[in-house]
Amino acid sequence: MAEPRLAVDVGGGLTLRNPVIAAAGTFGYGIEFAGVMDLTAIGAIVVKGLSLEPHRGHPPPRILETAAGMLNAIGLQNVGVRAFIDEKLPQLREIGTPIVANCWGHAPEEFAEVAARLADADGLAAIEVNVSCPNKREWGRIIATDLDLTRQVVGAVRTRCRLPLWVKLSPNVTDIAAFARVVEEEGADAVSLVNTFVGLAVDLDTRRPVLTNVTGGLSGPAIKPIALRMVYEVARAVRIPVIGMGGIGDATDALEFLLVGARAVQVGTASFIDPRATERIAAGIATGLSRRGCTDVNQWIGTLQAPSRR
Ligand SMILES: Cc1cc2nc3c(=O)[nH]c(=O)nc-3n(C[C@H](O)[C@H](O)[C@H](O)COP(=O)(O)O)c2cc1C
Repeated sequence: MAEPRLAVDVGGGLTLRNPVIAAAGTFGYGIEFAGVMDLTAIGAIVVKGLSLEPHRGHPPPRILETAAGMLNAIGLQNVGVRAFIDEKLPQLREIGTPIVANCWGHAPEEFAEVAARLADADGLAAIEVNVSCPNKREWGRIIATDLDLTRQVVGAVRTRCRLPLWVKLSPNVTDIAAFARVVEEEGADAVSLVNTFVGLAVDLDTRRPVLTNVTGGLSGPAIKPIALRMVYEVARAVRIPVIGMGGIGDATDALEFLLVGARAVQVGTASFIDPRATERIAAGIATGLSRRGCTDVNQWIGTLQAPSRR
């Protein structure tokens, strides 16, 4: 049987060769993986969250392995927009895989300024706005746990961003679909979810929190069923494409997210365990579809047969 067709339309006129995307903060600036795997074997690369100025993040310890995942409070360390555009983007352009810039700011106007500078640079395919980092005390709260603030940030970015705009949501809310609707109303081209869940680790001997930031974001296999449920809910609530993630470690996980309605998936923590995870998962999706007689991934996406709950 011929290889199934894997290309997916993720909104705003952007088509990916396959639905597997390397997730922000877990794949460096992408270039680091060039010698390890074939970067043209995946659909897109999302680079580390970028800010207006370089940022050091939180002091260590800021990462911890847990029973089924990891807890991190990196605090969005990055080289800043200018260095990214001057030093990283020229190399990234050569790869031939769509590059998405994940970015953040301290206020709606700053988010918009960062997104505008990135969108005006040559070589990016889309912008992903991170309003869902759980480790930014400066924000006062996670932006994507406040509907009004989320609306302000997305609205401000939309007016200044000429590229496809993805907005990344927080799972630390009761009704994530309500946030997805706001993001859609403000003109985003796609919604990505989930970011990490706020967690805590403590040390019995020192009687202190393990992470200097006290709390951190939980990712990896532990969060998968909750992330899958949230993607399912959001896919039924909005018309814009949904990009799903949270604990995807193999092609079976990825096919589950696609089945419940994700147009594409991101792979994060799995890349720390196996740097070639994204490539392996993309190949595995093709095999998994073929085995089920599917010739096009779009015949699979969103075809979950679930009873109506209402
Ligand atoms: C070490 C680390 C750094 C991260 N940095 C970012 C970031 O800069 N921007 C962002 O939107 N998400 C960031 N994330 C969240 C991931 O992109 C992803 O949403 C989350 O880890 C869930 O997916 P996973 O279970 O496959 O890792 C980070 C996650 C980890 C583990």
